Amino acid sequence: MKLNIAVLPGDGIGPEVIQEAVKVLKAIALEFGHVFTFNNALVGAAAIEETGEALPEKTISICRKADAILFGAIGTPKYDMDPDAKIRPEHGLLGLRKSLNLYANIRPIIAYEDLLNKSSLKIKQIRDTNILIYRELTGGIYFGEKKYTNNSASDICEYSRLEIERITHLAFKAAQSRKGKLTLVDKANALATSRLWRKVVQEISAQYPKVKLDFMYIDNAAMELIINPRQFDVILTENMFGDILSEEASVIVGSIGLLASASINEKHAMFEPVHGAYGKFSKGMANPIAAILSAAMLLDHFGLDKEAALVREAVDKSLKLHITTPDLNTKYDNITTAKVGDFIEDFINHPEETNLNFQNIHLGQSTII
Ligand code: IPM
Ligand code: MN
Repeated sequence: MKLNIAVLPGDGIGPEVIQEAVKVLKAIALEFGHVFTFNNALVGAAAIEETGEALPEKTISICRKADAILFGAIGTPKYDMDPDAKIRPEHGLLGLRKSLNLYANIRPIIAYEDLLNKSSLKIKQIRDTNILIYRELTGGIYFGEKKYTNNSASDICEYSRLEIERITHLAFKAAQSRKGKLTLVDKANALATSRLWRKVVQEISAQYPKVKLDFMYIDNAAMELIINPRQFDVILTENMFGDILSEEASVIVGSIGLLASASINEKHAMFEPVHGAYGKFSKGMANPIAAILSAAMLLDHFGLDKEAALVREAVDKSLKLHITTPDLNTKYDNITTAKVGDFIEDFINHPEETNLNFQNIHLGQSTII
């Protein structure tokens, strides 16, 4: 398969984790005879520095022409501390989501057996958690009219029926192919937008009789997600609730450095780690797994099932063997972002030889570490 992939590394740890995701995609292309071409483009603070804009026209055009986009992270502490800044790195990401109409953001939350003890939650509570969050990504309070003066500010939260319908169908379809449960998370006891969500989702549920539909208020869901995450299969929610819940869910998985996501519509698809840019993070030690698993979601998107499965198998092996960055590693503290990527690349290209290397790692004779 030929794929033209736009690569937007962005800021902070974005470039280093994306480099590993590209490394892994190249290994997959080599192994399976695909032709993946990569086109780099500027976004976020990196783009502001070079062009004065967080989302240059050239970047939008590269993304429009691409089959898929691989996105790193954006933001720097400099802008976080300046509420009056007119041009902000986040506009790069939000503007891209909006201009390509990437309305459905899919965030898998999976508790890996080998990492259960990395979570601060109780193992018996989180074991076997497997949730798919469908977060609406181009509407709601993020994109409503905004006012900002010295003395008052407002953000309008607005949703149209159509915006709710299109993601709801995707979430029902996903639930249908999984455990058959969909939970709409909202705040219908306080918000008009949430009441419209409930109405539309209830209407659509008639078309998916095999799916059990449930409703939960966001405040309650924030608690239930921690005390009994196994009760969820697919969660459907609006933009800001989805942002908050998915980051909360990273506690179940053990590190936000593991969470991948896809942002899609019928025409475009972008893949990005859920984590941010962490400008202060020590260079070269960021966890690349979220970016690498985002690349696996890219492969899924194009029906490259065997390829995606091999990436996930390699990731599982790296976790099992403690070939992980310090956020997850209590055994070795010197495994860098690039080493994790090298290991996964190596596994993809030579699974048998990598198996030998595993033993060497434990004997302290590895060429990998
Ligand atoms: C995310 C991020 C973004 C969001 C920020 C960077 C604007 O937190 O993708 O979860 O809030 O959507
Ligand atoms: Mn977020």
